[in-house]
This record gives sequence, C-alpha cells and structure tokens, in this order.
Amino acid sequence: MTQQIGILTAGGDSPGLNAAIRGVGKAAMGHYKMHVIGFRDGFRGLMENRTMSLDGGQLSGILTTGGTILGTSRDKPHRMPVGGKILDMTDAIVGNYHDNHLDCLICLGGGGTLRNALRLKQKGLNVITLPKTIDNDVFGTDITFGFDTALGIATEAIDRLHSTAHSHHRIIVVEIMGHRAGWLALGAGIAGGADVILIPEILYDVASVAEAIRERARGGKPFSIVAVAEGANSLQDLAALDAASKKKSKRKADDTEADAAELIYAGRTLRLAQQLEKLTGLEARLTILGHLQRGGTPSAADRILATRLGTAAADLIAKKHYGVMVAAKGEETRPVKLEAAAGKVKTVPPDHPWVLSARRVGTSFGD
Ligand code: F6P
Repeated sequence: MTQQIGILTAGGDSPGLNAAIRGVGKAAMGHYKMHVIGFRDGFRGLMENRTMSLDGGQLSGILTTGGTILGTSRDKPHRMPVGGKILDMTDAIVGNYHDNHLDCLICLGGGGTLRNALRLKQKGLNVITLPKTIDNDVFGTDITFGFDTALGIATEAIDRLHSTAHSHHRIIVVEIMGHRAGWLALGAGIAGGADVILIPEILYDVASVAEAIRERARGGKPFSIVAVAEGANSLQDLAALDAASKKKSKRKADDTEADAAELIYAGRTLRLAQQLEKLTGLEARLTILGHLQRGGTPSAADRILATRLGTAAADLIAKKHYGVMVAAKGEETRPVKLEAAAGKVKTVPPDHPWVLSARRVGTSFGD
C-alpha cells in the first residue's frame, strides 16, 4: 500500500519552512513513491480538514521563498479557538487523521508544536516533527532552521546601525527576537560587534550597562550599540515579573501566547534607551527589528539544513520510525523521542563559548 503522509507548519513562520516542505515532499513522493498531502494553517487546518495537494508542481520554486505555502497558526489541538470559545478539538484532529488514511503526520514547528505533536502521539497517531524557529531554542537539536537566516538579518542591521551611531555619537539599542532565549541576540551581537549584549539568561543591571557605555566614551568612543534580546530582563524587570507571575499563577504553563506577551513587555526596550540616555548623557535611539527577522529568502545554510531534515523525515517514515523529532547533530540528523524534547527550552548557558568569547573582546553583558 502507498504510504499517505500529512504535513503541516505551525507556530511562528520562519525562512526555510518551504525548503523543508520541499525536502519532505520530493523525498517522500519522488524517492519513496509515497503520497503527501498538506494541511493548511497548522493544527487548525487539520481540525477543519482544509488540505492542499502537493503533487502537482506545488513544490517547484519554493526552495528559495520565505514563509510557508501551507500557511500557519499558533492554534493548539487541545485549546482551539472555535466560535468565540476555547475548545479541545483533539478528537476532531484524530478523526481527520484517520479519515485521510494517514500513515504519518509531519509537523514543522518549534517548542509549542513539539508539545502538540506529543499529545497527538499519546492519542495513538504516528507523528514526526522538524525543529523550526528563528529562536534556536528547541531542546535536543544543535540548531533549528530559520535561525541562520535571522542571524544574518540581525547582523546586517547591526552593521548598518554602527555607522549612524558613530556619526551622531549615539547609543543605539536594537531589540532582537528570540522569545525566551538569547541565541539570536548573542549571535548577532557577536557577529555585528555590539558593545553590549543583553540576553534573558544573564540578568542585567541598567547601571552596569550605562557604566560600560561611559567607559567607552571616556576612551574616545562616545557611541555604542546595545543588542538586547526581547526576553532579556533587568533587575528591575525581574521584580515586576515576579509580581506579575504571582498574579497569573493559575494560568496553564503551556499558555505560551500569554507568557510571551508578559515576557515581552511593550515598551521595555524603549524605557531602557531612555534610562541609558539619562545615565550617560548620550542621545539614545531604539530600533526594533521585529518580524524583519522572520521574512524573506532562507540563507544557503538554512536551505541545506531544511532539506537534510526534510529528507531524513521521509527516510524515517519509510522505516516506520515514528514519534520522534528529526534533530540536527553535527553533520548528521538523529531521531530524538518527542518525550525527550517536548516541554523543554534550549537556553544559552551563561558559560557558553560564545559568551566567553564575547567577554574576551570586551563586550558587556550588563552583569
Ligand atoms: O518564535 C518565533 C518568534 O518570532 C519569537 O522570536 C517572537 O517572540 C514571536 O515569534 C512573535 O510571535 P508573533 O509572530 O505571533 O507575534
């Protein structure tokens, strides 16, 4: 019997998603003669049985395009907004999986998608995930596709901000995505030569950041680039976060939208720029890179990674090896049990080699 494969993309989009869809599709249909059907807009499309054929040339020309031809959403099977209510639609999803005679469902996504895929595995479905996110915070894999492209975008932005900061003798605070992890800000900060890098994993003190900037000015460099991860916290923020978390202690742990909203305080980085201007006497400006880091064509590295992971997923399906995430391990890929990766976030160890190298070249982490 021809194996029937379903594929969906869920969570925040990222460059490389279409390259991964192409990798899965070409290997499954071309090499293994399987049939692949796309579900639109993440788990919502699977719940509504909204499908997209992928065997009529839809995979041509998508290796280099950003976003996802399937569309995506952050909707979760067990907490799906339906008609103004939040309902558990897992049974509808399980039903559509079987009605489409799927042998396996491939879910391309980050940490939230891993958790949702594990729930479906526990309902008896054959699932495989591919680690996608610009945040690079998926546990169990060396890297996620989307990260390298976003790193390039953020680095180029920092390069551009250097010249205007230098010309105007200013502090430029640049907010970089990454949700609860600092990989993107750390990598772009190093690659772009930021003078200060602030990440969630290293609590910072605004006074220390200001002193580092004043020190540069005393040394004849009255301008600084501060690369700040959107989830980074100052001592003051931590106090506010503690107060907020006491209030919301009843909310379910996996309510990531609400957590993300609380972690990424609106205006937090603008307040940081204003505080630094006051403490240093230098003008300060803020640039928020936002969704620029999620758009456009994937880098060559992400195209290679996404293709490797996608074809490895097809190989696993051919061997009927389900219930795993296809992880990148060095030059290899390795199946990691969903139970081993779901629910965990890969954050930057404060003694990570990247952090140590940055400190060696004089970068301040505000601690
Ligand atoms: O997870 C990827 C990401 O871009 C995070 O870095 C960011 O915090 C979040 O998504 C933004 O979510 P949304 O696109 O739903 O606003």
